Amino acid sequence: MDLFSAIEEPEREELKRLRKELEEANYKYYVLNMPTLSDREFDEKMHRLQELEAQFPDMFDPKSPTQHVGSDLGKKGFEQIKHKYPMLSLANSYSREEIEDWVRKLPSNVEIVCELKYDGLSISLWYEHGVLVRALTRGDGVQGDDVIANIKTIPSIPWRIERDNIPEFFELRGEVLLPWERFEALNKEREEQEEPLFANPRNAASGTLKLQDPREVARRGLDAYLYYMLGDNLPGKTHFERLETAKQWGFHISDAIKVCKNVDEVMAYIAYWDTERKNLPVATDGIVLKVNDLTQQEELGYTAKTPRWAIAYKFPAEKQLTLLKEITYQVGRTGVVTPVANLEPVQLSGTIVQRATLHNEDFIRSLDIRPGDKVWVEKGGEIIPKITGKEQSDEVQSTKDFSFPDICPECGAKLVRVEGESAWRCPNEAGCPPQIKGKIEHFVSRKAMNIDGLGEETIDLFYQNGLLRNIADIYDLKLEDIAAQERLGAKSAQNMLAGIEASKQVPWSRVLFALGIRMVGETTAKKIARVYNTIDSLQNATAEQLCAIEDVGPQIAENIVAYFNDMRNLEILARLRQAGLQFEGEAAEGPKSDKLAGMSIVISGTFSYHSRDEYKAMIEANGGKNVGSVSKKTSFILAGENMGPEKRKKAEALGIKLMNEADFLQLISG
Ligand code: IVH
Repeated sequence: MDLFSAIEEPEREELKRLRKELEEANYKYYVLNMPTLSDREFDEKMHRLQELEAQFPDMFDPKSPTQHVGSDLGKKGFEQIKHKYPMLSLANSYSREEIEDWVRKLPSNVEIVCELKYDGLSISLWYEHGVLVRALTRGDGVQGDDVIANIKTIPSIPWRIERDNIPEFFELRGEVLLPWERFEALNKEREEQEEPLFANPRNAASGTLKLQDPREVARRGLDAYLYYMLGDNLPGKTHFERLETAKQWGFHISDAIKVCKNVDEVMAYIAYWDTERKNLPVATDGIVLKVNDLTQQEELGYTAKTPRWAIAYKFPAEKQLTLLKEITYQVGRTGVVTPVANLEPVQLSGTIVQRATLHNEDFIRSLDIRPGDKVWVEKGGEIIPKITGKEQSDEVQSTKDFSFPDICPECGAKLVRVEGESAWRCPNEAGCPPQIKGKIEHFVSRKAMNIDGLGEETIDLFYQNGLLRNIADIYDLKLEDIAAQERLGAKSAQNMLAGIEASKQVPWSRVLFALGIRMVGETTAKKIARVYNTIDSLQNATAEQLCAIEDVGPQIAENIVAYFNDMRNLEILARLRQAGLQFEGEAAEGPKSDKLAGMSIVISGTFSYHSRDEYKAMIEANGGKNVGSVSKKTSFILAGENMGPEKRKKAEALGIKLMNEADFLQLISG
């Protein structure tokens, strides 16, 4: 190796590493909706990679993240369609000087349209003869997913435009957003259900748009702003005129768009919206500048990834230094102990922040923060404030030591840390107040038993007064007990009892979810209930048998077995059964499947997981037919132990497949 390449080597390595890192970050951001880098870190790394690629042109690679936009493709269930015009991204900068420079370098007489940069995900709407025919996500920029059914749930997007002179075809691009208010409500709901929270409205919007259930999408309340019209022979010579036209046709176009004539007007626009954007109902992360005249746009042209006629100015994430006064500990429904930073209150992005999660012990140790430290609090695109580091100066050295508590702050039980997990947990499930109350809250929640009138505060009150100590106590509540509580009148007591009564009709799969067995979420409960359609059959199942169900891994299986091995749970279950809850479902509970449609299936032999009758019901619930004797029309034989020799012989002669129980269960749950 010569001297030069030895010097260059580390930079070439850095280049390769950055490519890999950015590729991964793109995947986590666009496909998984779980960003690992902040926007700023991402942009900085991207700029550095661009610099290095310019330095080493021999390392050019068309697959580099600098040469293509991040891809959100990879979810099943949507038709992938090639874009008529590639969906590019925008060059961006955090520096107002760079923006000034960019404007100054444009030909002198240009008009610049300034717009807000909405922080959602881009969508491309195709209209043919005024009718919405496709709605494509950006995808990889070349092709996107058609999410039209979900887009049609957005009230501000017209399905059809009834006007004269509507062009034969046009495309409108814009941003799909989940307004702050909806985002916060959704996260609150997810917190109650112990589902993972969305980090910011962008992730929530993106996750929502990729759902396979338009009704759920509609319930969440997406909105959209449109900012770019494309097509051949469209009216208007400028970008602004086209947006005005779109507005007249009934599209949702922002009122904040301004045509600026010089750099001062542009900078004034940026300065104004830097603060004013905090009052908007949706998230924005910058300003977009676009050359107004379409001919001038064409002259300026494009790079591989971005138009040269536009640039985005990105607002810096807001950051504040403040005192970490104290770390307190919160115990959740499942006993996980979460450390919380109690801060000297600071103003950040329009709200006062005084608490922030510290996640777990490892997080605290990795930032090396202790009470008494000055810490950085950030609120970028994220609603939940984050602690990102501490001030390293000598003056503000922390005074206190940090050690994670070893006993539960709520009940005094000794905490345990499960190997391989970063969380500390209180094992005192049946005696730790927040766990008890949390279990009851989960039990009554909307997607579980849906008992109206028994909210968090009432549960707390009843717990304090000794009326509620576990979920079975709910069914022993008497009108006079409830009405005797302060704040609750006879009317609310009656409503509550009606809700409790109604919950006795809630189907088995939701009852199973409501029991709150660790890691058995709503969907898993449904899948389990399809296979085990009585609580008794579930109770008798071994971990190994449970693992045959789709989505059930060894950990969940163990949790289920452990749940039924605990005497206290069995007592509660006995009382719930006595109260009349649904501990049995029809085999076909939930949406029926057509996995076995058109199949004739023979059952033969003895089985260990389910009875013959249960298997018969399962076959029918999945669209198949159970027949008695083997013929050439038989699709397969569900074969148990000691299958009759005649049947076996006949099957062999006709070449009919035998399937064992485990494979069958896998087939219908998969
Ligand atoms: S124009 C060819 N205008 O920002 C230019 N984009 O980082 C097309 N965005 O993919 C984009 N607000 O999702 C434009 N007023 C606005 C925007 C905007 C948000 C998004 C868009 C784009 C991304 C680029």
